[in-house]
Amino acid sequence: MDDPAFQVETDLQTQSLLLAAANHDLRALRDLLRNTSASVQDPESGFTPLHAAIAACEPNAREETSKQVSGCTNGATTNGDAPKGEGEQRMTELEAAVKTIRLLFENGAIWNDLDANGETPGCIAHRLGLKRLYELCVDAGVRAELLLGRLDEYQPLGDEDSEEEEDGEDRDVEEVTKGVEAVEISGEDGQDNSNYLSSILSFDRDRILDDSANGVMIEWETALMRQSAELLLPSPELRVLNVGHGVGIIDSILQEKSPKSHHIIEAHPDVLKRMKEQGWYDKPGIVVHEGRWQDIVPGLIEKGELFDAIYFDTFAEEYKALREFFTEYVIGLLDPAGGADREGGKFGFFNGMGADRQVCYDVYNQIVELDLLEAGFDTEWETIPVPNFGEEGQWEGVRQKYWVLQNYKLATCSFIE
Ligand SMILES: C[S@@+](CC[C@H](N)C(=O)[O-])C[C@H]1O[C@@H](n2cnc3c(N)ncnc32)[C@H](O)[C@@H]1O
Repeated sequence: MDDPAFQVETDLQTQSLLLAAANHDLRALRDLLRNTSASVQDPESGFTPLHAAIAACEPNAREETSKQVSGCTNGATTNGDAPKGEGEQRMTELEAAVKTIRLLFENGAIWNDLDANGETPGCIAHRLGLKRLYELCVDAGVRAELLLGRLDEYQPLGDEDSEEEEDGEDRDVEEVTKGVEAVEISGEDGQDNSNYLSSILSFDRDRILDDSANGVMIEWETALMRQSAELLLPSPELRVLNVGHGVGIIDSILQEKSPKSHHIIEAHPDVLKRMKEQGWYDKPGIVVHEGRWQDIVPGLIEKGELFDAIYFDTFAEEYKALREFFTEYVIGLLDPAGGADREGGKFGFFNGMGADRQVCYDVYNQIVELDLLEAGFDTEWETIPVPNFGEEGQWEGVRQKYWVLQNYKLATCSFIE
């Protein structure tokens, strides 16, 4: 790598790839991709060929990118004054971009590499309103993340032998997943659950921050909690389980619905202390389970406890944990003959993974729906607009916004009939 001649050659190859991608020049790209992967990055702009192929579709990017064919915003050609017929013979620039992007994905392009502006290729497509190109990025993200999820479950035999892993199968795993880590699908910055559970929490209004100023719960979520509670418990006298009490927003709303029984699982000692001070333990029908859901839920199943509705909203856990919850446990806790009018129990969860970037949220939503289906659930989605709370100080003192999107996708799940 220290060889300057080798470096020059690599740089040249990268620049050629970026140019061919920006020009949607499939022939040149195919030639170049014979000897190199599509996963290269310009050291200054951070552009990968995918970034270049998409950014070249910005109308004023044409002059900069030596493109010969013009116009590809959202499927419409801008060569309006070209003679009719000519346009039909010529591939539209959008179609050329689609082909280019497909070719790049087939040759190892990574869906979520970040450029120097902190944008993934999908972010650029979204910003430019290039719906088809955006969807290609989302589809590639779903494929990569599903594969990553499956590889994560896969434990090769002789797992302890790390030397063998380095030379063997695990190298393939690393290659497939490289770059997937560049943008975390979790909106919680990869926080570790046990670190969080031993951190000191501060409660302020209806808000919890941990001792690194991460927002555990912020009051803007109240409208989402209300709508979830309405869908899960539409009538009184139902049995509900809530995992993660937080500041008790959803538990207070669930209480308004006069449930027959109301179980709460909560693991953080500071939250439990506050629950005691606020009298949650003494409310009729409430059962508080102190501890991590991972330790509590098997006991509930053993006892044969069944619920008409289950809500799940924890903190500092990866998507894996939510998936484990609905794949392994909801089936044993949710009454298939329960719910309002005995139409079957309902399961809901706070849907916030990847919510610091639209493309990640869209990828994650497709993954969660597929995983729910595989676990035996039908999902109904409701889109709820999220107001911009910048001026209300909701994020004041919070280390990192975990939500930047305009719409929340609320999921309500029930067993497939
Ligand atoms: C985002 S808050 C829940 C907010 C709640 N939905 C509300 O309406 O206020 C997450 C809660 O889950 C708890 N928690 C985190 N990990 C947990 C685990 N493994 N088991 C049980 N509770 C957990 C946290 O202590 C916190 O109280």
